[in-house]
Amino acid sequence: MDGKREQWGSRIGFILAAAGSAVGLGNIWKFPYLVGENGGAAFIVLYLICVILVGLPVVIAEILIGRTVQKNPVGSFRELSKGNPFWIAVGGLGVFTGFLILSYYNVIAGWSLGYVIESIKGSFHKLENPEAAGQLFESLSSKPQWTLMFHGLFMIMTVIIIYAGVTKGIERASKIMMPALLGLIIVLVIRGIMLKGAGDGVRYLLKADFSAITGKTFMLALGQAFFSLSLGMGALLTYGSYMSKKENIVYSAVNIVALDTFIAILAGFMIFPAVFAMGLEPAQGPSLIFNILPIVFNSIPGGYVFRIIFFILLSMAALTSTISLLEVITTFVVDEFHLKRKTVAIVLGGFVFLLGIPSAMSFCGWENFTIFGRTCFNFVDFISANIFLPLGGIFIALFVGWFWGIRKALPHLQQGAASFSGFLALLWSILIRFVAPILILLIFLSGLGII
Ligand code: PHE
Repeated sequence: MDGKREQWGSRIGFILAAAGSAVGLGNIWKFPYLVGENGGAAFIVLYLICVILVGLPVVIAEILIGRTVQKNPVGSFRELSKGNPFWIAVGGLGVFTGFLILSYYNVIAGWSLGYVIESIKGSFHKLENPEAAGQLFESLSSKPQWTLMFHGLFMIMTVIIIYAGVTKGIERASKIMMPALLGLIIVLVIRGIMLKGAGDGVRYLLKADFSAITGKTFMLALGQAFFSLSLGMGALLTYGSYMSKKENIVYSAVNIVALDTFIAILAGFMIFPAVFAMGLEPAQGPSLIFNILPIVFNSIPGGYVFRIIFFILLSMAALTSTISLLEVITTFVVDEFHLKRKTVAIVLGGFVFLLGIPSAMSFCGWENFTIFGRTCFNFVDFISANIFLPLGGIFIALFVGWFWGIRKALPHLQQGAASFSGFLALLWSILIRFVAPILILLIFLSGLGII
């Protein structure tokens, strides 16, 4: 479909859409359990280091590539590298990673939607301890009909928004859901902190246990920074491709990164005080919010309503992320094969649904089917979040810092951000040329046990 490329209706529209992509299950489901398992505040400190030294400069670089060329990841790299096959493949890796992430991410998004329904039905009322909640979770997630039905429903919701387009779909949905999400989190944080015994949870989040830090922890923090910022696979590049040249990329990037980090930390304050107040264990791993949280609400006055609010919040956070993932692959197909957006969105949605089935089945029947010792779900999560995203990040940094080159890239960045020069520009170029690639590489190798 040729025709003019859509553009965001407003600056805040872009910031909310990109922050919507960034804020997701990564913030509310993954970040708190990683903090719980890896030394509390010590992990938060590592995470902040990764976000500031690597995340922010690469966010700027990724949006910059997209806005400069106004194309999908493959088309953008092709144009800027003048057809160099290696860089085209880097764009392709991004699109492929988008496929993979969406396929398993949507399964968990589906669970959150399912939990909204279960909360309304009152399924958690009579559960007294985490074991009972764990059993309920297992009995639900181990039913292929349940898991696949919500996996499918969530994909349909995602497709509907992408079908509607950039401004009428993504931008409008983000403008409604992001403020709602922020409001709901604040309500839940206040509710949690007011509980008796919540102070231990707050102290836990503020107390740093640096003895828990290893090379692997660093890799987890970096992988989480990439995952949480939707970085390294072309989501921000794609959103940036709808951005006007009059807008300030640096300003937008700082806002996106700040919102994402703020919401991840708020999510910690929403979950841990309540978990501690109920005398439960913080280091529960991935099942924290599905096993522990539902029963935490049982002992909270008004818990029935707060539980529903929590899972609605989780579903909305997931939805603003799944749409960005589907958008990456949709624009890729639309741009490269000149097909109609609406048809492409539906076909790709169906395709990703199928690709997600092995991940969904990892919890209901295929637990013992493993690839390199991991279930399908864990394998796809590991290679995409911990390998492909950091790898994509290194390539984006090297591309902008060295191949395209700061001298050529900077004038594009300064369009709409004229004051980004002198010391700030120098700082960014040092981070993008040296600090980001070296840090990513070191952390990557040490996490894989190579150094
Ligand atoms: N950033 C999203 C989250 O934290 C996940 C995501 C990753 C979305 C990559 C898009 C691209 O949940």
